[in-house]
Amino acid sequence: MTLPTAVTLVEVGPRDGLQNESRTVALGDKLELLNRLAQTGLQTIETGSFVSPKWVPQMADTAALFAALKPVDGVRYTALVPNERGLDDAIASGVEEVALFAATTESFSQKNTNCSVARSLDNCATIARRAMEHDMRVRGYLSCVLGCPYEGTVAPLTVADLTRQLLDLGCYEVSLGDTIGVGTAGSTAEMLMALQHANIDMPKLAIHCHDTYGQAIANILVALQYGISTIDASVAGLGGCPYAQGATGNVATEDVVYLLNGLGITHGVDLHKLIDAGEFISTAINRPNQSSVARAVIAKRNNQ
Ligand code: HMG
Ligand code: MG
Repeated sequence: MTLPTAVTLVEVGPRDGLQNESRTVALGDKLELLNRLAQTGLQTIETGSFVSPKWVPQMADTAALFAALKPVDGVRYTALVPNERGLDDAIASGVEEVALFAATTESFSQKNTNCSVARSLDNCATIARRAMEHDMRVRGYLSCVLGCPYEGTVAPLTVADLTRQLLDLGCYEVSLGDTIGVGTAGSTAEMLMALQHANIDMPKLAIHCHDTYGQAIANILVALQYGISTIDASVAGLGGCPYAQGATGNVATEDVVYLLNGLGITHGVDLHKLIDAGEFISTAINRPNQSSVARAVIAKRNNQ
């Protein structure tokens, strides 16, 4: 199979990563992280989310973050929104791109958004319509595409059906979330084959792998083989999902960059600056850096 020659990386660490921290992350540290990430060549950074602070307290300062941010030219700072209230707050903060989200299973939908899948899709439709009236770009996430923490296996046809529905709402792209990182190269291929057979336009898809079982890099390679050329990742492998117990952070952006470098695929990101950004935030939140590549490069630097 042929691979794409260029890939877009979507950095989700400031949102997907930091939303799961049990301790408050200082606004100044978030700003410093965003600033460092913006200097690496990354073009899209999911900066925060306008969700209920009762549900995800770590994102309560997203409006303050956007207000304090000094945007770097050529970087898109995006935000996740769960409802119209979140969209209103995103509009008030001058956000130009929002991401909405739905799940493949009823249980996860209830735990994450307190409503059924059908109601969540209605909600997504309203958000998408209103966001587009405001000339905002709308991205969609579909969670639990390779397994659900409550319901187990998810049928690839369900993923295809819901992906189609999110695209039909006007999402320019749908990011396929392996929320609990249970997918394998085999199950990823099976799922993507189902999407291909359902005539989903593969370049409109992104892959969003959490790395709980250490399979993310293998799964991303499969996604590249299926024509997906947008990859979500989290610097230093930050994070997890607050509504998926035991799920670890996203695949580390540094590890994806190393994979792409090895394949000769263009991505525009400076690996060393990225490693420095990952080290900065890992130190700030007092967590070990989860990127194998970052750890290896730092060990080598220290021995020189
Ligand atoms: P609810 O409790 O049914 O909503 O939650 P509600 O309308 O009854 O509101 C409850 C309270 O929250 C009210 O305050 C609202 O005003 C307030 P009170 O009257 O009690 O003082 N509220 C808000 N405040 C600020 N911003 C808002 C907002 N909305 C309501 N936007 C709701 C429903 C959707 C709000 C809630 O379930 C929620 O916020 N869920 C978000 C959960 C979340 O952020 N999960 C993580 C992101 S998804 C993810 O990580 C997966 C992904 O990475 C892909 C993957 O890995 O699969 C994207
Ligand atoms: Mg996620």
